Amino acid sequence: MRKKITKAIFPVAGLGTRFLPATKSIPKEILSLVDRPLIQYAIDEAREAGIKEFIFVTSRGKGALEDYFDGAPQLEQSLRKKNKKELLEELKRSTMDSGEIVYIRQREALGLGHAVWCARRLIANEPFAVILPDDVIAAEKPCLKQMVEAYENTGGCMVAAMEVPPSMASAYGLLDIEENMGSLLKIKGMVEKPEPEDAPSNLAVIGRYILTPSVLKNVGTLKKGAGGEIQLTDAIAMEVENGSDVFGFRFDGQRYDCGSKSGFLQATIAFALSRPELRDELMEFMVETVESRRAAQ
Ligand code: G1P
Repeated sequence: MRKKITKAIFPVAGLGTRFLPATKSIPKEILSLVDRPLIQYAIDEAREAGIKEFIFVTSRGKGALEDYFDGAPQLEQSLRKKNKKELLEELKRSTMDSGEIVYIRQREALGLGHAVWCARRLIANEPFAVILPDDVIAAEKPCLKQMVEAYENTGGCMVAAMEVPPSMASAYGLLDIEENMGSLLKIKGMVEKPEPEDAPSNLAVIGRYILTPSVLKNVGTLKKGAGGEIQLTDAIAMEVENGSDVFGFRFDGQRYDCGSKSGFLQATIAFALSRPELRDELMEFMVETVESRRAAQ
């Protein structure tokens, strides 16, 4: 039996500069798609994949995230009095039990690899997951669950993978494929944000990872990579060089890049349209708006 994946790291130390001024006083991860903060989607997905320990790598100014996952006795009491059962249920999803969630600080913004490495003592000697909350994935079976199921057969390291247009490729970690096995891809290399002419493929890493603890050891030996940062991609690529198995996993689902304004808005619209109570009114508004914009052009 393979060791179960029960720990996940959520790197949430980024400044969220693309969403300024909104992110001047609230963490990017609290920005909401309809009525649920980005981080809630990540936590829900992790829970459904069997994660029991949630490790947040934060930075200065992320206090609102800690409050979000805390109990809210006054609010709960008032909802109980008013018999608002649905809202109470909804609140429950965001409340973590003591000991279930851990916050550690990344003192300097040295890159994703470094952020994950900050959790090394909590991970100790087990395989673990990493979820980047900017990548929101709508799927019937949550993306990380799909990966955990695939990992039960493969072991090794696994990254979520998706084809991206060549013009976008240098915004991602890209996979060099040794063997295409349907949804599984055997990897022979990985490059973080290469120049277009150096891209090994148009298969990009998306923010879901299952990693072995040796990846954390690798991070400790890395020099600065793309963008002058310590890159997680480089630490995983070292696993391939050391002869260990690394797989890409083409997930079923729709991914939204909520680190960009356009992706965030697309996700907002898609999630709102999937809500029966919002759909009709919103559709009507969208059709009218698009038609009048077109007519004005
Ligand atoms: C990070 C990773 C990159 C990956 C991307 C997916 O980049 O470093 O390999 O492709 O997430 O969203 P970032 O978007 O933080 O620059």
